[in-house]
Amino acid sequence: MGSLRERLIECAFCARLEVKRRRRGLHRRFKTAGFTSHRLGKILRSVLEGGSMERRRFLKYAGAALAGATIGVVAGRQAEVTSPSQIITETATQSRTVTETTIEECTESTCCSATLRAAAETRGILVGAATSSSFIGEARYRNTLAREFDFLTTENEMKWRRIHPAPDQWDFEPADTIVKFASEHQMKVKCHNILWKDERTPDWVKAERSREEFLRILEEHVQTLVGRYKGKVYAWDVVNEAVDTNEVNGLRRNVFLEKLGEGYIAEAFRLAHEADPDALLLYNDYELESADSSPYRKARSDRIYKLAKKLVDDGAPIHGVGLQMHLDAWNCPGPVDVAVDVRRLARLGLKVNISEMDVRITEKELAGTLTERLERQRRIYHDIIAACVKEQGFMAVTFWGFTDAHSWIDEEFGADDPLLFDENYQPKPAYWGVMDALLGE
Ligand code: G3I
Repeated sequence: MGSLRERLIECAFCARLEVKRRRRGLHRRFKTAGFTSHRLGKILRSVLEGGSMERRRFLKYAGAALAGATIGVVAGRQAEVTSPSQIITETATQSRTVTETTIEECTESTCCSATLRAAAETRGILVGAATSSSFIGEARYRNTLAREFDFLTTENEMKWRRIHPAPDQWDFEPADTIVKFASEHQMKVKCHNILWKDERTPDWVKAERSREEFLRILEEHVQTLVGRYKGKVYAWDVVNEAVDTNEVNGLRRNVFLEKLGEGYIAEAFRLAHEADPDALLLYNDYELESADSSPYRKARSDRIYKLAKKLVDDGAPIHGVGLQMHLDAWNCPGPVDVAVDVRRLARLGLKVNISEMDVRITEKELAGTLTERLERQRRIYHDIIAACVKEQGFMAVTFWGFTDAHSWIDEEFGADDPLLFDENYQPKPAYWGVMDALLGE
């Protein structure tokens, strides 16, 4: 065992998480004790700036929130806080105790609490990954998923073609596997998706029939699917990728639009709500991020906003919007633009989530050594997530997978490394970028 300082540095992530956790609870206590942010900021600054270099470091990592804790305790006693040095002494004592406890709780080589889900919890948001039932049998996949994430999206298992491929055929087992795994590991589930484009809708649904018959099939599908998971899942992507700005009305042509008109979207939300009134119901789409950096993206972003606003104005039971965020490192939306998109959707009273994030860095498109490309990827993950977590109403970030061993990108575009863990399940720079963003750094 080295010195306390060495051990603290080893466990910097644990210590930082501990600090963040406490800070959340403290804000409430400070408010109750009548501290204004300004006065609190002044006191904390005097604590952080008042000591030697070493003490400052110590306090920065493990002590800042504990300085607050001390102030909170003092305030709780109704005492007048006038002496920063008294605070420093009390804080140093408390910090040491807490830090030593934290270190003891850690195993030798890994930090027990340094996980994305613990970091996300400090922000009151969820951190998720698209999950494939076929990989849950692999120990490394399963263990990493359970350790790092608290929000699973069914990558393919609930899509209409998969789960209801013929009128009388339902294949629930793969979806059930994910829902069960999530429940065993205290994770929430986002089911993906109920209605999508024609290529992803089974042929039997698209066969010629009357409007009434079509509506009956839709109703049965939603009631059976959403009803089965009622009380077991947290959210549904009810409609996926309905916008197409190349069309006159800005909506993608599909069998639902053709049979039911534009109202099909509101109808899908209504049916889902009827089947599970407690589920969070979301609209999900791609390239709606970045309102200002390209006319194409701006048009998509504006059309999706208009659609969400109309659903809200019409009283449809829509609760949120997902920004997919499949990004190319060489052509990315800026974090400020993304934050603007999140903000305007949240102002409609909607929850906003990043729903399918990954960042391509293929050497065919992006110059630089592997180290440089991975660093570029880290920065993109970090900057976009850091910008979003600051926005009110931002509820979750989900990655489209988590290990480069399994990504749709390789199949669709060729070999790449778009995710947070490498093919051997080791965290990449991108992982630490996300961790820092979740910790507000
Ligand atoms: O299961 C078969 C397997 O048996 C076969 O060997 C293999 C050969 O190609 O195909 C496998 O199925 C493929 C499946 O992915 C699993 O890899 C399907 O053909 C393929 O169409 C399917 O692609 C999925 C795609 O949606 C279409 O449903 C991707 O995994 C999935 O990541 C992707 O996800 C979409 C979101 O739902 C919506 N947003 C965009 C995102 C990426 O395209």
